[in-house]
Amino acid sequence: MRARVFPDYEGISAAVAYVVAGRLEEEPSTVLMLPTGITPLGMYRRLVEMHRSGRLSFANATFFNLDEYLGLAPDHRASYHVYMKDRFYGLIDADPARVFVPDGTAPDPEAECRRYEAAIREAGGIDVCVLGIGRNGHIGFNEPGAPFDSRTRVVELSESTRKVNASDFEADRAPERAITAGMATIFDSKSVLLLASGTNKAGAVAAAVEDDVSESMPASMLRSHPNASLFLDEDAASALGGGLAE
Ligand code: PGA
Repeated sequence: MRARVFPDYEGISAAVAYVVAGRLEEEPSTVLMLPTGITPLGMYRRLVEMHRSGRLSFANATFFNLDEYLGLAPDHRASYHVYMKDRFYGLIDADPARVFVPDGTAPDPEAECRRYEAAIREAGGIDVCVLGIGRNGHIGFNEPGAPFDSRTRVVELSESTRKVNASDFEADRAPERAITAGMATIFDSKSVLLLASGTNKAGAVAAAVEDDVSESMPASMLRSHPNASLFLDEDAASALGGGLAE
């Protein structure tokens, strides 16, 4: 796992957008897996700008989202359907037939998870997976303890994750469950780009990079991935012992 450290958040956003755009220019039919949250907003803004200025098309790309809350309708303002539509998919030339977000209201969530995995397989697998990291080291909604061999499935959210995400919900009550791409689903991606910004991620980043590889620290799995890179700002890298950064 390589780490690149940038002075600030804008540096991470520009670098990751550049990598994703470069990949799409090389191979317009790239299959992307994409995150929500605060961290990727700068990357999305830049990719949208590149598209608007005529430099980048997403028309042949395929998109999978990492996760969605269970029980939220696709038009719920806190759903990841709405997040992605407002910040990315609705602002670019994505082909709606190749945009996949888990359906949090599927009558049979387990069947929805199987359908999602099948759609990923049918698309030929994920080429580039972009991830954030939780303060507890989660990736997607794979909370500490998530089996490394897990596939897309229904998960319980940890209290800490629900607390961090609470402000998106009425009465501060975040859903208790979600559908997430599994650890093995993420690991099978040909390349993984993990973004972290801010001192509140420094502990998780250091544990993922320097402690034992363990299911109790989900992001540590990426250490054995053949092509995983961390994009960190100085704050997120501040607890690292050194020697890793390029
Ligand atoms: P954030 O979320 O980008 O909003 O910090 C990251 C995550 O929890 O994976």
